[in-house]
Amino acid sequence: MWTEIAGKISEKILLVCRRNGGGIPYMTGPDGRFDDRTDKNISWWTNGFWAGSLWQIYALTGREELKAAAVAIENKLDRALTDASGMDHDSGFKWLPTAGADYALTKNPASLNRLLLAASDLAGRFNPRGSFLRAWNDRDGKNAGWAIIDCLMNLPLLYRASELTGDPRFAQIAALHAGTAARHFQRPDGSCEHIVVFDPATGERVAAPGGQGMGPGSAWSRGQAWAVYGFTLSYLHTKDSLLLDRAKKSADYFIGHIPASGLIPADFLQGADCDFEDDSAAAIAASGLLELAGAAGESRYRHAAERLLTTLAEKRCDFSPDTDNLLTRCSVSFHDARHNHALIYADYFFTEAVLKLLGKGIFIW
Ligand code: GLY
Repeated sequence: MWTEIAGKISEKILLVCRRNGGGIPYMTGPDGRFDDRTDKNISWWTNGFWAGSLWQIYALTGREELKAAAVAIENKLDRALTDASGMDHDSGFKWLPTAGADYALTKNPASLNRLLLAASDLAGRFNPRGSFLRAWNDRDGKNAGWAIIDCLMNLPLLYRASELTGDPRFAQIAALHAGTAARHFQRPDGSCEHIVVFDPATGERVAAPGGQGMGPGSAWSRGQAWAVYGFTLSYLHTKDSLLLDRAKKSADYFIGHIPASGLIPADFLQGADCDFEDDSAAAIAASGLLELAGAAGESRYRHAAERLLTTLAEKRCDFSPDTDNLLTRCSVSFHDARHNHALIYADYFFTEAVLKLLGKGIFIW
């Protein structure tokens, strides 16, 4: 089954690569075609994911046109790398699926340069009082104490920078941030906060406001998925058993809240009358659970990942050539006006996870 699904994904990505003209997609429009963030916002956090899919399918198929399109996007992102106003906590999302994948496959020195510049900028966001990497940007420092669960996924850029340079400082910062997330983000039931606010001068924890979920205390499903995958990745890089414990608790919460349909709601605490879904949470969690299964030596996590991916493949995947996206029902944020639409990172993590099941693709984290 998974070989057939991987074949369908490859066919569609090749087709879309040929017709999307080198764009950097985020969502699809009403015509089912990808939009293009190149001139809209080159610093947008999702701008690495289409290139990531292209690299994954290039690694699988060897089709040179996929590599050429991915390299073109990596080059375009240099404009983001030189714009301080757009450099933020999401550098891992932007440069691991682009420069990271490129360097892993080709040893391109320009990719190494990009990885080290992005990692240095990310390391510069570390707050030594609170031991966290600050989220987002502002002009007046009002958000200087904000940290978010998503940021765990950017830490591999720092671990990678230490491996590449032999300088442990990058990995030390990543491990300190992961430890802060382990202590402050997970609740006793295994669910997690999206945002935790620290006093940036003293490091004291001051609040946990609602973020992209339903509200304070709710369980934004993509945040739970970032926790599953992010804690697992930091465990793999540090071997700190606290992080494995947090990954398993996040995973157990996620798995315990999968509805009978197997489809993931935008927030696990939303009412039964709310139909907001998030395929991206399902795909991210599945890819993270596949790593966790190996890290924890527990096959139940692999079985849960397979169930999530089977549900996506059977109920939410659009393999037709008429549209550009694969997955169909995602939500950016619970309080957005628009729900149940395509998102480029859902497709990336679905592709990554399906290839993992086959022992194929590349590990970029
Ligand atoms: N990292 C932002 C999000 O998950 O929407």
